[in-house]
Amino acid sequence: MKQLTVELGTRRYPVIIGNTILEQIRSLLLLQRPVFVISNFTVETLYFNAVHQALGSLYQGHFIMLDGEQHKTLTTYSEALDAVMASGLHRDGIILALGGGVVGDLAGFVAATFQRGVSLIQVPTTLLAQVDSSVGGKTAVNHALGKNMIGAFHQPDGVLIDTATLHTLPDRELKAGIAEIIKYGVIDDSEFFGWLEQNMPALLKRDEQALQHAIAVSCAIKARIVANDEREQGQRALLNFGHTFGHVIENDQGYGNWLHGEAVAAGMVIATYLASVMNWCSTTDLRRVQQLVAAAGLPTQAPNINWSTWQAGLYRDKKVQAGQVRFILPTGIGFARITSEPVPETLLQASVTLT
Ligand SMILES: NC(=O)c1ccc[n+]([C@@H]2O[C@H](COP(=O)([O-])OP(=O)(O)OC[C@H]3O[C@@H](n4cnc5c(N)ncnc54)[C@H](O)[C@@H]3O)[C@@H](O)[C@H]2O)c1
Ligand SMILES: [Zn+2]
Repeated sequence: MKQLTVELGTRRYPVIIGNTILEQIRSLLLLQRPVFVISNFTVETLYFNAVHQALGSLYQGHFIMLDGEQHKTLTTYSEALDAVMASGLHRDGIILALGGGVVGDLAGFVAATFQRGVSLIQVPTTLLAQVDSSVGGKTAVNHALGKNMIGAFHQPDGVLIDTATLHTLPDRELKAGIAEIIKYGVIDDSEFFGWLEQNMPALLKRDEQALQHAIAVSCAIKARIVANDEREQGQRALLNFGHTFGHVIENDQGYGNWLHGEAVAAGMVIATYLASVMNWCSTTDLRRVQQLVAAAGLPTQAPNINWSTWQAGLYRDKKVQAGQVRFILPTGIGFARITSEPVPETLLQASVTLT
């Protein structure tokens, strides 16, 4: 078992990583207050019983949402709040998110807003949620005009990552999680990027040691960045590498057709291509990013999207400041910069349509 801490002063919290540890959630996270569980139908079937039993007398109720990004909406959020209210949970209660990033983001937003904020425990069951969304306190639901447009910052009190849950995860979802893992290597850790180049086959085979290492390194990088810039006033925006482009792909293709991680994978290649044509990084760096994304079985190219759709999507992005799109561009493997420098439109167009 590995444990690390997200250092946020009095709000610091543990991230515990281990195999078959769901059953020990109560003791590992020192839970003592009533817990309301939010999950979805897929994950409920697989893991709800274990959590329910482990909570014992602390269990206060549950809400099970429909499965899918298209249900990460204000409507589902409102239904979840109805269930929380009906359960009689008080301000001292805890919301426990059991599922992938969709459940985590929605349950997190419930916890952020119910009674102006109650405790949140994240129990992520997808690789993507384990390495990214469960740590850092971003919670949100989608709006028809954009992803994650309604939300709040609300840190959890603890994150419990049980790698045993990954054995039921579909291959495509596993790969989508690997996209976010690659992201950490590109923006922050060249040694880890090299490790990924060597160990991609082991990760794809779900080798336990490889998974635990990749998850622990990813969470440690995210924990450090979040601790330094909780509200994304600066460096935290680096975590959006690949996302500016990825969000346009997700929006255009309809949620679910392209998974978040798949869109981010193509987005990372686009951003690296842009960086290379602007001479921020080398073509060797570009080739390494492309090859690692391909080795993970992830898309290296965007689908066919109109240039006008790209423009509209990029300018609606949350990263727009004073009318300039902020790009996160690698300056080498392990290093990235946030820039609002104007990017020549021809280069941008070439990047998104690169083949
Ligand atoms: N808050 C953040 O910082 C942050 C960061 C990254 C992504 N996100 C959000 O996360 C979401 C994507 O998360 P995701 O990729 O986990 O998708 P997801 O939550 O939709 O889960 C993917 C699929 O796997 C299923 N599933 C979950 N755990 C399983 C298991 N152990 N075995 C079998 N099936 C399982 C789910 O039911 C779903 O069908 C997006 O909404 C994205 O915006 C948030
Ligand atoms: Zn992401």
